[in-house]
Amino acid sequence: MDAFVIEGGAPLKGTLRVNGSKNAALPLMAAALLTDAPVTLRGVPRLADIANMRRLLHELGCDEDHDDEGDVRLHVTDASGSHARYDIVRTMRASVCVLGPMLAKRGSARVSMPGGCAIGERPVDLHLRGMEALGARVTLSSGDILVEAPGGRLEGARGFLGGAFGPTVLGTANVMSAATLAEGTTVIESAACEPEIVDVAKLLTSMGARIEGAGTPRITVHGVDELKGADHRVLADRIEAGTYLIAAGMCEGDLELSNCPMDALLALDDHLQRAGVSVEVLDDTDPLRATVHATRGERIEPVTVTTHPHPGFPTDLQAQMMAMLTLANGNSVITERIFPERFLHVAELSRMGARLFRQGPTVVVSGVDGLVGAPVMASDLRASAGLVLAGMAASGTTTIRRVYHLDRGYERMERTLESVGAKITRVKEQDLPMMG
Ligand code: EPU
Repeated sequence: MDAFVIEGGAPLKGTLRVNGSKNAALPLMAAALLTDAPVTLRGVPRLADIANMRRLLHELGCDEDHDDEGDVRLHVTDASGSHARYDIVRTMRASVCVLGPMLAKRGSARVSMPGGCAIGERPVDLHLRGMEALGARVTLSSGDILVEAPGGRLEGARGFLGGAFGPTVLGTANVMSAATLAEGTTVIESAACEPEIVDVAKLLTSMGARIEGAGTPRITVHGVDELKGADHRVLADRIEAGTYLIAAGMCEGDLELSNCPMDALLALDDHLQRAGVSVEVLDDTDPLRATVHATRGERIEPVTVTTHPHPGFPTDLQAQMMAMLTLANGNSVITERIFPERFLHVAELSRMGARLFRQGPTVVVSGVDGLVGAPVMASDLRASAGLVLAGMAASGTTTIRRVYHLDRGYERMERTLESVGAKITRVKEQDLPMMG
């Protein structure tokens, strides 16, 4: 397993280009199962999760070609299989997004039930409720979810996708994708409004689907008989962009970001401004692919952060924001409303001298003058990103073990950050000195 060794304190200066979005690319790739024609996706990030999705689609009869530019061509040539096996689903929860496309196109699907993960329990009841609303029969067998469309085709219906923690992003992608081939009209109430859903709707529309309202809480889908191939550029990754903007605020940064989806980052922008980090837009001819310049002010001011579904502050930036606020000039309060247990970074940041007090879904962050490098452990993707930022801002050396979590969602993060001045080396864990 790999680890990072970070020498803290280096200022960040230079230009970065934001990659394509992981969380858009996964359901976009799954949408290739809805057609017999090829689907080409451009700007797909090179990540472990994407490689897993390619492997899963291959098992489901999809031929796949990709190149170094991030262009991926997917083409179903054998639609006889319909089993997403535990082996793959356990490595990537997002495998569940093949459920809707497979059910709609092949009339049935068998997907291993995803387990919990480091950030919480993560049930899929809302996905299944949506499939049932479209007329599917849902059963469980040997840890697999079996869904079947009686008569081979789903039927349009009205379905409510709100849960105790708000709408579901992948659940919305699943039901919207399934509804494209259903007989009649589907209305999804309490749909997720995330930009990734809008991107999936764009691809489906270019494949011939008839979708209204993507990006709002009510999505209407008029079913069609078949979908054709398409060529689509993946949305830029708002979470990668947000991570680097926060890095600029934390590490004496002077960073220019291109391909930055600023229009999808307004909540972060607002919080950064209040914390004293300036994000100046240099070019927003396309506000989802803007060029921006981020610099830190005199000091970081404390802010209150509550995560919410889009357009609220994203849960996927909570850990990184917490890392930055450990250095604020006063007390910040962070409340997690999407995944109330998503706080594995709290104990690790505390090892670096952060003063954090957690009660349930809320953490009070009492700013300190400086963080101190320490050996820490990555636990989930975004918690790990928070630790990398903390390591870059700390004095001395930080070692982060288990960085495979980071490789799931950031393309060679150490190279990206090194290119703007960070001092990060990737090493083998066995080459690190033993921790006491
Ligand atoms: N939920 C249910 N039932 C369901 C589905 C979700 O109760 O059937 C709950 C979840 O437990 C959670 C809330 O609803 O409390 C929202 O979960 P959601 O379904 O929206 O999460 P997801 O679609 O599985 C995606 C991203 C996550 C991101 C969340 C929230 C992908 C591949 N994953 O997950 O990204 O945190 O939306 O924005 O798109 C990450 O990239 O690090 C990551 C975890």
